Amino acid sequence: MTDSKILTPFDMPALHARNRLAVAPMTRVSASESGHASAQMARYYERFARGGFGLVISEGIYTDQAYAQGYPCQPGITDAAQAQAWAAVTAGIHAHGAKAVAQLMHAGALSQGNRFREYNVAPSALLPKGEQMAFYYGSGQYPVPRAMSDEDIADAIAGFAQAARRAIEVAGFDAIEIHAANGYLLDQFLTGYSNLRDDRWGGDTRQRLSLTLEVFKAVREAVGSVPVGVRISQGKVNDFTHKWAGGEADAEAIFGALADAGVAFIHVTEHEAWQPAFAGSPASLVQLARRHAPATPLIANGGVHDQARAEQVLGQGADLIAVGKAALVNPDLPARLAAGEALAAFDAGVLGPIANIKASELML
Ligand SMILES: Cc1cc2nc3c(=O)[nH]c(=O)nc-3n(C[C@H](O)[C@H](O)[C@H](O)COP(=O)(O)O)c2cc1C
Repeated sequence: MTDSKILTPFDMPALHARNRLAVAPMTRVSASESGHASAQMARYYERFARGGFGLVISEGIYTDQAYAQGYPCQPGITDAAQAQAWAAVTAGIHAHGAKAVAQLMHAGALSQGNRFREYNVAPSALLPKGEQMAFYYGSGQYPVPRAMSDEDIADAIAGFAQAARRAIEVAGFDAIEIHAANGYLLDQFLTGYSNLRDDRWGGDTRQRLSLTLEVFKAVREAVGSVPVGVRISQGKVNDFTHKWAGGEADAEAIFGALADAGVAFIHVTEHEAWQPAFAGSPASLVQLARRHAPATPLIANGGVHDQARAEQVLGQGADLIAVGKAALVNPDLPARLAAGEALAAFDAGVLGPIANIKASELML
């Protein structure tokens, strides 16, 4: 198993990964109520580095003290104290030779626990699809959000930029991932049915992507040469099977614009990363990203839980594989692959009834 491509290093400008395996971002609602990363989180993240992962991407971290927070006990990075709390997490990751990526997230209409505000904001004042997630302390429908003003949008952009600066300068992260996927604020702007705006933030696919591109620009200016990437998806936590309405033309517009903007990496996630992205055409989202952003480092995620599948997705053009649920039960997944050892099967009990870190995990 040691001749596998998955275990070979990957370099992007300003970031060396010792292999192609990344821990996918996973929200575990295990911070303090005031949003400080905990000692338990430091132990949890450190295990992935000890187990051989090249990159450890954090859970979605909220960026500001306005509308960004999504969940009770979600960690934030909105001030120096919250940033300082992350320093213990990144130190544990670095101690075992892995790199730490901060995923910055604004929940928008899908917030189901924000201690700073009484209501949510979104591109348009529309009832979100789906229901709140019980394993993050939610129940019932999401509230109808207020449409963001120009000032709200400017504040959200600044929130990302300032959070990124703290993540690099205070918390010790090595790279930034902007969360523009899975139904959260930036994806609400990208998605036609949740963005009915007729100003510069709405319109065609390229225009609906413009908030993500503005956030990217602001973050890059804030952190200089540190890699800044973007996570993109079709599916959403509140609309699992959503497909981009424009099909492959949307993929071209989105990946092409991200490449033109100079993102350091694109992280695509699908339910099963290798499957065709759209009915009637064989190309997966990985293949479409590779086609339309040919020179951009590409992370692929979704259902890639064994070595053969990982090699297949690398063969489709991904440079790195992000592993979610399989990493929860195999925090030493890279070491196991290197040794040719079997992987443990996923145990949904880890995430229930609340998705917080369980004491049993810390013994793995
Ligand atoms: C408990 C849990 C929490 C998650 N939290 C996040 C998150 O904070 N940010 C994000 O981009 N994706 C999040 N995801 C999605 C994962 O990153 C990943 O896309 C998903 O688990 C599919 O990959 P897998 O099949 O390897 O598990 C979460 C998934 C799980 C299971």
